[in-house]
Amino acid sequence: MSDTPLLSPRDWSSHSDYLCQPYKSTLLRGPTKPLVPLKPALKDLLAPVYGHEIVGELDHDLTRNARQNGEPIGERIVVTGRVTDEDGRPVRNTLVEIWQANAAGRYVHKVDQHDAPLDPNFLGAGRCMTDNEGRYTFVSIKPGAYPWGNHTNAWRPNHIHLSLFGQSFASRLVTQMYFPGDPLLALDPIYQGTPEKARERLVAKFSLDVTRADIALGYVFDIVLRGPQQTPMEQ
Ligand SMILES: [Fe+2]
Repeated sequence: MSDTPLLSPRDWSSHSDYLCQPYKSTLLRGPTKPLVPLKPALKDLLAPVYGHEIVGELDHDLTRNARQNGEPIGERIVVTGRVTDEDGRPVRNTLVEIWQANAAGRYVHKVDQHDAPLDPNFLGAGRCMTDNEGRYTFVSIKPGAYPWGNHTNAWRPNHIHLSLFGQSFASRLVTQMYFPGDPLLALDPIYQGTPEKARERLVAKFSLDVTRADIALGYVFDIVLRGPQQTPMEQ
């Protein structure tokens, strides 16, 4: 028997459409037939359990988890927030994974051929477990904007990708966190593809309390799994 709390239906009005005309690759990969509902037994399956023991001491610190011969280049940041369920309860002991471009806007991935330098001291991937309050914290480098082939002179805003399972497969969330005041947000088909009422949930808040004096700027990004205040999915 699963002890997963019953989830209310996903609030689709907070999420972008699978097929989003301005975001061209969704037209190739978005479903064109009606979705098949998951059987209740599958919906309530608990998410994979990852124990603390598999998360290394430095996995949450992207400025230290891949150093070869020095520190990564760029503006250091701290990103923290709480993961809560649709009733505001903390989602404890759940794995949060992130991936991002380096300060120059380049991913460590063979598909990324953007003419920008790789950083030998920055991998751009990290993970951590939420604590008893549902809180996670990463230290990283502010990701750079990068061009993508969606349309002429298209640039992605600074962003960090996140993946969470929460308590069950049905609360899986893959999303992107953006930075406040980014002029590219107004031009980005992915960000703009999220319904207007929910877009601001994707933008982190600058926080002087989280900022570490002389070290790193601080941002808060709270994540809600399911419910009307859910953090929007990416397409
Ligand atoms: Fe990206």
